[in-house]
Amino acid sequence: MKTPVTVTVTGAAGNISYSLLFRIAAGDMLGADQPVILKLLEITPCLEKLKGVVMELDDCAFPLVQEIVATDDPAVAFKDADWCMLVGSVPRKAGMERKDLLGINGKVFVGQGKAIAENAKPDCKVFVVGNPCNTNCLIALHNATGLPKENFFAMTLLDEYRAKSQLAAKAGVPVAEVTNMTIWGNHSSTQYPDFTHARIGGKPATEVITDSEWLKGEFIKTVQQRGAAIIAARGASSAASAANAALMTVKNLVTPTPEGDWFSVSSYSDGSKYGLPEGIICSMPTRTNADGSHSIVEGLELDAFSQEKIAASCKELLEERADVLGC
Ligand code: NAD
Ligand code: LMR
Repeated sequence: MKTPVTVTVTGAAGNISYSLLFRIAAGDMLGADQPVILKLLEITPCLEKLKGVVMELDDCAFPLVQEIVATDDPAVAFKDADWCMLVGSVPRKAGMERKDLLGINGKVFVGQGKAIAENAKPDCKVFVVGNPCNTNCLIALHNATGLPKENFFAMTLLDEYRAKSQLAAKAGVPVAEVTNMTIWGNHSSTQYPDFTHARIGGKPATEVITDSEWLKGEFIKTVQQRGAAIIAARGASSAASAANAALMTVKNLVTPTPEGDWFSVSSYSDGSKYGLPEGIICSMPTRTNADGSHSIVEGLELDAFSQEKIAASCKELLEERADVLGC
């Protein structure tokens, strides 16, 4: 039997976790033969609700689950963690941008970054879902003294899936035919879903969808505004699709990426790729290598339109960083 992997999930009694935890426990994230220890963090007033979630997890009798720890103490929750999935934070309401949450949520990631550095495994991976996820991830990174910068990630795979689904619908093909989709920049309304490198059925998306006005206009806008559209329709932010993307991001990060393709995840920009600024958590095309390391896909040509869109999103990330400096 494999050694169990310890997965810490914060916000464990929340909406996303209510989908996420059961799929992690079923083996959908780390594999059907990988035992897991689940460490679940909540704020004290939500411990009773978390108790109910743990009862339901118990009642699934998942064979891979070795132990479940439910706590309101970050030191206990992050103890020996291999994966720290930081979901816990307040979602936005209709009419807000995700960055409007920085004042409320940002401070959570100060304490959690410190608790991770002090308690989790030194080679643990930190993956932030709670919004605004890119800058929250940067806050956690700055506070997790001693942990490698390259082990910090924030979620933009949901945006990639949204983009793939829009392209597939427009082209009238199954979504699995859409590959090489990059989200550049911030998980926000400035993100750039890059249709110029996307492929449909192995061909450039721009050859299959020749309506460039749609690609440059409605397509980008729909992806950028999808989170807000879901809040407007559901009265609550995306949860099941967010849980799916969170799970699939970790799966992508632990599984060698199929030849020729890549996936979107936000990670630390060291300033050496595509002229992106140094010191932000920026979404980029990423591959997982056979040895488990991660590389940014290099050599993609960015036309003037793409460069302008990416620059606008990076500018926003720099502004968010400036807002939290000193946090
Ligand atoms: P939710 O309100 O249903 O659940 C959040 C949970 O976090 C609550 O149970 C709350 O008690 C808990 N929490 C708050 N502060 C905490 C702390 N300091 N420690 C531990 N737990 C804490 O919200 P949700 O729908 O699950 O969404 C969670 C976050 O994920 C939101 O910020 C939302 O905007 C974000 N989100 C991000 C993406 C993405 O693509 N990156 C997608 C969807 C949602
Ligand atoms: C999403 O993209 O669905 C989430 O970030 C929630 C939101 O606030 O839009």
